[in-house]
Amino acid sequence: MSSAPERRTFADTLVTDDPVRAAEFLRAGEPVAFPTETVYGLGADARSPESVARIYATKGRPADNPLIVHVADIEALSGVASELPDTARRLLDRFAPGPLTVVVPRHPELPDAVSAGLPTVGVRIPSHPVALAFLRACDCPVAAPSANRSGRPSPTRAEDVLADLDGRVRCVLRGGASEVGLESTVVDCTTEPPLLLRKGGIGLEALQEVLPNIRVAKTRSEALSRSPGTRYRHYCPRAQVELTGDPARKGNSTTAWIGLEAPEEPESYGKVRVCADLDDYGRTLFAFFRDCDDAGMSRIRCLVVDEEGLGAAIMDRVRRAAAG
Ligand code: TXA
Ligand code: MG
Repeated sequence: MSSAPERRTFADTLVTDDPVRAAEFLRAGEPVAFPTETVYGLGADARSPESVARIYATKGRPADNPLIVHVADIEALSGVASELPDTARRLLDRFAPGPLTVVVPRHPELPDAVSAGLPTVGVRIPSHPVALAFLRACDCPVAAPSANRSGRPSPTRAEDVLADLDGRVRCVLRGGASEVGLESTVVDCTTEPPLLLRKGGIGLEALQEVLPNIRVAKTRSEALSRSPGTRYRHYCPRAQVELTGDPARKGNSTTAWIGLEAPEEPESYGKVRVCADLDDYGRTLFAFFRDCDDAGMSRIRCLVVDEEGLGAAIMDRVRRAAAG
């Protein structure tokens, strides 16, 4: 975790390590960026339609893309979900706190805007200790999308949040670099069998141990109809992203490389990141995208990995980024 002192940016955003101080902003109706183990979120009191509206405005987020509600423990879901389907309970028992979101029936008292008018709501219990301390200090369910401007890669470091939102939020809570680095796995538990809507930190194989009959949204239109967020341009650096299976490809001074192996001629590339393992690839992918933009790269070559476990989530994000 960062030990740098609390500071104000030139745009008057408070950057702090203190979850209690950050929670004061949220309780006053201000959107607050906070760390989680997946990516940084931009939080607001989920019970307040005004606060939730500010999230959409701050991010430039389309109004039909629902938010995930974050709580510190299962008990805090009572005012968020009208019921907890057995499948959701089993997933939460196994994977919460952690990088999992379950979609469940929405409580009638939760504002429509949280889930963009859907009768369901996505809920998540993050495992990051600073996120949990923040949620406890807020003492309310916290609606939060990723803390990037819409369309940009999700932020995995406090400085990424500032790059997108400095001056647009009054407070950023710091908690170091996100461990997982990719957004949570989203499972719709309002259908039978349950449906995997977004690949993420928890792989399909692990989900199948708890729910052997879980289905994966097969077509784009199926994912789209159940999870509006999959419609939008996502995860995009300014540089053109491409997939490659061929380390022999040569680069140039504005081409970058990321993968589990080095390219055969690393000196031909402007920037190279060789990841130690899949976890490292997932953790650094979005940060690398942003660093490449800062370094003026025009192309980012991503070496493909097997689509198992976290590998499936990494390939999903790389493909979306490549599709622009
Ligand atoms: O790891 C994460 O999930 C991060 C951190 C901050 O928790 N949050 C995040 O939020 O990635 P966001 O808003 O960038 O992505 C939420 C995804 C979208 O694809 C959205 O469509 C889907 O979850 N989603 C949310 N509520 C839903 C619902 N009721 N039904 C179907 N999909 C839902
Ligand atoms: Mg997002």
